[in-house]
Amino acid sequence: MKPHIIVIGSANTDLVVRVPKLPRSGETITGEQFQIVAGGKGANQAVAAVRAGARVTFIANIGQDSFGDAALRGLRREGINARYVVRSKTRASGVALILVDARGENLIAVARGSNDELLPRHIDAAQPAIRAARCVVVQLEISLTTVRRAVELAVRHAIPVLLNPAPARRVPISLLRQATFLTPNESELAALTGLPTKRKSEVEAAARRLHALGVKQVLATCGARGVCWSSAAGTRWFPAWKVKAVDTVGAGDCFSGTLAATVADGKSIEQAIRFAIAAAAICVTRPGAQTSMPTRREILRDSAFAGIDF
Ligand code: RIB
Repeated sequence: MKPHIIVIGSANTDLVVRVPKLPRSGETITGEQFQIVAGGKGANQAVAAVRAGARVTFIANIGQDSFGDAALRGLRREGINARYVVRSKTRASGVALILVDARGENLIAVARGSNDELLPRHIDAAQPAIRAARCVVVQLEISLTTVRRAVELAVRHAIPVLLNPAPARRVPISLLRQATFLTPNESELAALTGLPTKRKSEVEAAARRLHALGVKQVLATCGARGVCWSSAAGTRWFPAWKVKAVDTVGAGDCFSGTLAATVADGKSIEQAIRFAIAAAAICVTRPGAQTSMPTRREILRDSAFAGIDF
């Protein structure tokens, strides 16, 4: 039986232009290709989790427009339960304008649109599903009040919560404390703590600051430097794979979605981190957000090539 997880968050349509280099303010850069790809941190994490082997219920607010129709069709095609996806009558679907350069680095601007209209009552309506889940996954691309309600309900039913604090924004510590797993990248960790996170020792110190405030487990995703897993009991680094990145959009989502699916499957956190690192490594070698999420079979195959046994 596949583990059931709930993902609550944004669904966007990503409008992507590949450019040789990212423009400075006021500069025009000419790119070659334009692509429309399914994205949004919530939807990306739902797709990553379902491909990693979980049964996923996704809770989101999508506009009643052609982007929204396509997003919903895509989720259903993946086998994601979209029963609790609501459709806004007043706001357009979320859109992200994305530039990706030759090294795979990106710039993103998001129009949140209908994502802002995912309300606490929509989370309440999904309570029966939340109660029966093995993990609840949530990010910060929706209203904070809604995030709070999602976490509150999960905690009430003793369901582990993975909170991906992305995009970076101010979050009350009381909310961070309720998460079982917090998965910031370096800049999100810096935004949460007000501390530098350029060096490994700084990442560890920033995570320690969060533990001192009552945060349980931090899994800081630090790109090529790997993942720093820390709790009040100590810190451990897991190395990243050496790969040639073509597009890093969605890599953090891939990590969080895969991690949640693996933990919900009863694996240890160490195994789940290794599996999620492998998934994210594959993700960055492919273009697009949801298009780049690997399947469980691909993760197992590439891990076997790399001599890693799960
Ligand atoms: O994390 C990547 C995602 O951020 C993109 O898919 C884009 O939609 C933005 O939400």
